Amino acid sequence: MKPGLLAPSILSFNHAEIRPRVQELIAGGAKLIHLDVMDGQFVPPISFGDGMAKGLTDLEGALFEAHLMIERPEDQLDRFVEAGCKRVIFHAEATFHANRLIGHLHSLGCEAGIAINPATPAEMVREVIGPVDSVLVMTVNPGWGGQPFIESALRKVETIRSWSDDIWIEVDGGIDEQTLPRALDAGANLFVVGSHLLKYPSLGDAVRELSGLCA
Ligand code: DX5
Ligand code: ZN
Repeated sequence: MKPGLLAPSILSFNHAEIRPRVQELIAGGAKLIHLDVMDGQFVPPISFGDGMAKGLTDLEGALFEAHLMIERPEDQLDRFVEAGCKRVIFHAEATFHANRLIGHLHSLGCEAGIAINPATPAEMVREVIGPVDSVLVMTVNPGWGGQPFIESALRKVETIRSWSDDIWIEVDGGIDEQTLPRALDAGANLFVVGSHLLKYPSLGDAVRELSGLCA
């Protein structure tokens, strides 16, 4: 299994200050930044699009992944690859063609991730465990930061880990010092943290302390 990694999410930051906040995360040691893209359709809020990614991916020291909480993800994949994302994650619930989208991302030289909502069974991703690079298990309902962790998602993490030692298993939502170690025990190795970052004296402190729990 790949060693655990923290993926700070920018969703809870003041959007007028995102670039300097991301610079603070990178200075604190963050190696992967998580961009939450919402279209007002798949989930009620609208967050930002590929323009935000384009405005950040020139920052050195970290890679960027886009988590697309959008309908018709196939219409947006190329834009996020062109914007410089290392990995693009689409929702299994948003397409009939997961296998084709994974192949398309790979053909563009980009890693592919597939995400599942709390009500979606692990079996939904079973047939793409071979080609996919990461499975993102939502541990809250997508759309908002700051919600409580949904316990039943841990059983899905265990199930998916039993299918593959190699893939990244990402947990996203309600991750803090209590829930992160439990997700790690269940087999997750990529930990998205949003609103909890703001509870520390600085973003650098948040990255250092939470990264220490990931391994
Ligand atoms: C929620 C997003 C998350 C969000 C997590 O729909 O996918 O990445 O930033 O925020 P917290 O960590 O506050 O639950
Ligand atoms: Zn996310």
